[in-house]
Amino acid sequence: MRKKLLLGNWKMNKTISETKEFAKSIDTLVELAKEKDIDIGVAPVYLSLQTLKELVPETFIVSAQNCHFKDSGAYTGEISIPMLKEIGIDWCIIGHSERRTYDNETSEKCNLKIVKLLENNFVPVYCVGETLEQFENNKTMDVVKDQIEKGFLNISKEDASKIVVAYEPVWSIGTGKNASKEIAENVCAFIRSLLVDLYDKETAEKVRILYGGSVKPNNIKEYMKMDDIDGALVGGASLSVESYKELIQNI
Ligand code: 13P
Repeated sequence: MRKKLLLGNWKMNKTISETKEFAKSIDTLVELAKEKDIDIGVAPVYLSLQTLKELVPETFIVSAQNCHFKDSGAYTGEISIPMLKEIGIDWCIIGHSERRTYDNETSEKCNLKIVKLLENNFVPVYCVGETLEQFENNKTMDVVKDQIEKGFLNISKEDASKIVVAYEPVWSIGTGKNASKEIAENVCAFIRSLLVDLYDKETAEKVRILYGGSVKPNNIKEYMKMDDIDGALVGGASLSVESYKELIQNI
């Protein structure tokens, strides 16, 4: 039985002091999550990671939004995995569509990062998903297949089961146009079938697959009822304590 996971992606939002303000309510959120038997956490900006990590209980996941695949070197503006590890971080989002769009993040590059993260005992949250144009041209499955195959290259069966996959159709992110539960389930089930092909049924059954894209307190429940959706990666609705609390309550 896969444990449900709610991860907030704060993107480029919240200063350190705003993060501290949110952290004041985390004990309440953690208590609620315990009652519901789900994992919860957020991915703040790099600057806030250490502060947040120091303020929250061990069970609250604090994730980075990105990392570099090299340990150190001449990569201006980048942050490496050992740097994250030193401050106690062991989760990292990889390949978010905003990074694919604005920062030329390819699936090949994502794979280098995923391999390195696993070597360092991190949990990678690997994002995949199609653009509106690809969706309208019925290319969703081709795009997702390519992203999954490239992202999981050279990853052992044992490591593969530790990865969290997030299916986030680009056309649903920040648009208020969430994918229907049927569309989301169809693609998440397809991702699991790809993992069966790449590995085996046992491995595929262990991987948590999240849906992301305009998830709100009023629609989260319908996704959680679906067989292959194991949680949500939430942007806007994870920013306020009130709304985060409602997301947990409605799972
Ligand atoms: P929204 O929930 O704001 O649509 O963002 C989704 C997302 O990109 C999470 O990574």
